[in-house]
Formats: sequence, C-alpha cells, structure tokens
Amino acid sequence: RILILDFGSQYTQLIARAVREANVYCEIIPYSKPFEIDSNLKGIILSGSPFSVNDLNAPVIGIKDIVKQLPVLGICYGAQLTAKTYGGRVEKSSKREYGRASMSVNDDTDVLMQGVSTKSQVWMSHGDSILELPEGFKVLATTESIPVAAFRNKQDTNPLYGLQFHPEVYHSTEGKQILKNFLVNICGCAQDWTPAHFITDTVAALKQQIGDRQVIMALSGGVDSTVAATLIHKAIGDNLHGIFVDNGVLRKNEFEDVLETYKQLGLNVTGVNASQMFYNELKDNADPESKRKIIGRLFIEVFQQEAAKLENIELLGQGTIYPDVIESVSVHGPSVTIKSHHNVGGLPATMRMELVEPLRYLFKDEVRKVGRELGIPANLIDRHPFPGPGLAIRILGEVTEEKVRLLQEADHIYTNALKETGLYATVWQAGTILLPVKSVGVMGDERTYEFTVALRAVTSVDGMTADWAHLPYDFLADVSNEIINNVRGINRVVYDISSKPPATIEWE
Ligand code: XMP
Repeated sequence: RILILDFGSQYTQLIARAVREANVYCEIIPYSKPFEIDSNLKGIILSGSPFSVNDLNAPVIGIKDIVKQLPVLGICYGAQLTAKTYGGRVEKSSKREYGRASMSVNDDTDVLMQGVSTKSQVWMSHGDSILELPEGFKVLATTESIPVAAFRNKQDTNPLYGLQFHPEVYHSTEGKQILKNFLVNICGCAQDWTPAHFITDTVAALKQQIGDRQVIMALSGGVDSTVAATLIHKAIGDNLHGIFVDNGVLRKNEFEDVLETYKQLGLNVTGVNASQMFYNELKDNADPESKRKIIGRLFIEVFQQEAAKLENIELLGQGTIYPDVIESVSVHGPSVTIKSHHNVGGLPATMRMELVEPLRYLFKDEVRKVGRELGIPANLIDRHPFPGPGLAIRILGEVTEEKVRLLQEADHIYTNALKETGLYATVWQAGTILLPVKSVGVMGDERTYEFTVALRAVTSVDGMTADWAHLPYDFLADVSNEIINNVRGINRVVYDISSKPPATIEWE
C-alpha cells in the first residue's frame, strides 16, 4: 500500500489512478490527517498544490520524520517542499513553465530513471522553481528552463525523490515508467492489485462483515450498483435482496432487459413496476427541480414499501465509489472539507442501516475492470451514464406517458445507430431531448404540426466539463431520417452543438 498525501492539487486523483494502473493499491488522504505506519505501507507520495512553498499559510508536513521510516516521492509542490525542508532554495523563477517540456536525464544509473530515455517529454505546471538543491542532494534530470527537474537525497537514509513535473499525466510520456520504478524497485510493492485479487479479497471481507444477515439494495441498471450487487451476491447469495424500480422514465425496454440481465447473473432481484404512480405525480409539473424532487421522493417511498415486505433486513448495500468519498483539501486555505455524497437514486439518511459498500475504494475504470472479471455483460459495463430522474429531465416541461413513449422511440433509434456504427464507445454520453415546441412540416402532400427532438452527444472525462461530439454528418442525416419516418409525432430533428460550460450536458 502507498499513501498519497494530498496538498490540494487538481491532479491528485490522477496520481492515484496511475499508481493503481501499476497494480499497486494506494489511498489518498489530506496532508494534515495523521496516519499509521504499518508493515503494509511501503511508501509515501506527496502531491502538488495550488500553494507556493513560500506562502505564509503554505501547508507543511514533517518530511524528515517520514523518511526515517519510508521512501518518499514528492511531485511538484511535494518536490519543492522537500527541497525547502532540507535547506534548498525555491523561488518564483523568471521562467514559469506550463505544459510541455523536454527533460534530459543526467544520471541514468539511479533506480528511479531506469529504462527512461535520455530525452523525453514531461508535463510541467509550476510558477516556483528549485534553484538550489540542499547539500548532498543530487540532480537526476533537467529541462531547458529549469536546473532541477528530478532529484534525490543522499544515500544514507530511505530514498527521498522529487519530481518538478507531473509523471501522472498522459503527456509525460515516460511518467508511468518513473512511477513504476519508484513503486516496485524503490518501495518494493508487489504489483498484485488486480481485479481478480480484489474480488477474492472483497468477497472474503464481505462474508466477514455480513455473516448470515440480510442485505437490501436498490439497483439502477447502472455499472456501479450492478458490480456492487454481484460482489455481495458472490459473498452471501440470496441473502442479498435487490430492488429495481420502473419509474416510467427509463429507456425503451430497459426495465425488461435489465431484469433479464440480473436474472442471468443469478441475482435475487424484485422488479417493481411503479410507472403509473410516477406519471400521476409528475402531471402538471413543468419545473426541472420539482420533477427531480418528485422522482426522488417516490423512489424512496417505493423502496421502503418493498423493504417493509421483507423480514430481518439489517444492512443496506450501496454502489458508492472512491471519488464520492475522498476527503478533498480546500484550495482556499488548508482547511479540510468532506465532499457531499451524490448517490444516484439516493436513499434517505432516515434509513439508518449499516452500509455495505464494496466499491468504496475503486475508481470508475476499476469498477468496470472488476465487472468484466465478474462476467457482467459488456453492454451493461460500457453503458453511458444515465441520470437518476431518467427521461423526465429530457422531456422539457410537463412529462406525460405519451411524451415518454415518443422520446423512448426516438432515443432507441439514436442509441441503436450509435451502437451499430461503433460511435457509442467514442462518446462519453448521448441522449435525446424532447422539446416543448411544435413546428410545421410536410410529409407527402400533408401538412404536419409535430414535436422536435434534439440529439445530444458529448465527449468528457468526468462530466464536469464536456465538448459536443463531432459526429459525422452522414450519421446524423441517417438518424434524423429514421426518427422522422418512424416516430409519428416528431417531424424535426436538431443536433446540440453546445459545450459545458457554458451549457450543461442535460437540458434541464
Ligand atoms: P449536467 O447536465 O449537470 O450533467 O451537465 C452532468 C452529468 O450528471 C447527470 N445528471 C444527473 N444524474 N441525477 C443524476 O443522477 C440528476 O438529477 C442529474 N442531472 C444530471 C447527467 O446525465 C450527466 O451525466
């Protein structure tokens, strides 16, 4: 296990993902949080930070104490803090470096630089530079603009390294090799953090936690809840009771298809068709936030009704993943805030049950890998994100059963076309939006006066920012034709070319 001490850098999660990609388990904690050193802990990584080490309120930690016990790697701010702690000189340099730089390795005999080319591209993002190293420290690499791109300490304690650049980002072409050298050759990590290993360990831990008690869990058809349920099921079998609710605003055939998949996976899931109840309450509500609230409230009601039918339920399963629980370091001062937890189809705090959260330490890409290893079908693992309030927030204004049916048909055509052409995997999320406008069209000799749908497809990494996907014109033309010719009630199709920000992915 490696610990990453976070000083508030935007790249900290990328460091963790790069370490995990090397099959080494790691966790992120705020730099100010005390931690225990045990025999499983093999090394420490210090993250970057929006602070300068020379700021009065700059976050600091006792690096000298840590190095007495473990190898340490400082990245960017972490490297500068290391240099400063031992008496080096760090200052705002005349040459700031942002983006690409060319790194030259001075000392390829050092373990950290093994297998790294003499010259390679690295990614920089810093205003301060290390101008002088502490006494006895050694420069391992430089760039054209800065004298110290990588360094290490004297050989007489545990290894202590600093990298001015960001080895964790994609654009540092040999960053992964450098990280691997640190993790494997310097810290002695075993590289045994694999999906298969995770499954074995997690199932054993779940058996231990749950024993012969009963667990209830809401399933959404999404990746996280399905993978979490499959793991729990592996541990306790049918003592896991899944509930999958049809809220009337799922995609076409989704309720039946997903239930069928659950059945194939052997999960003990009850499908509850509550569509009518949702339509009744959604009637006359055009406001996006009140639609969200209605759907959230009804979902909880239905779930609690189902839970009440079961006896002796003590535990609640949830598909919480690591980005939901990492404690973040505020960049507006070294105070620590805890991210609020947004769980799709969120269950209320009033359901005070012990939680079972097998994915609590996984990133999304790891959840997918574990899902594949568990044999969950690819169409479920590679699904685009789908909002909890479903098609209700893609029908602008009031939601009616008839409008849901129209949108389901159009969406089905669009999604199938994306899948058939292989474009589905190239976009992060796609969907169809039913607009509350009717316009005039002509079909044969007849005048039509019908609805418009907007097609949306975006590229993104995390949904926080997104660009519209540049789908081929011919593809859009085919989808438009197919929708207008087959879905009576829609006579116009438009494509959304807005990015986020300033627009959002959903229209409501
Ligand atoms: P926006 O529209 O904010 O969407 O750019 C970002 C991501 O969040 C999803 N989304 C939701 N998910 N409940 C959810 O569970 C919601 O109310 C909700 N609103 C948006 C959206 O689909 C996209 O992936």
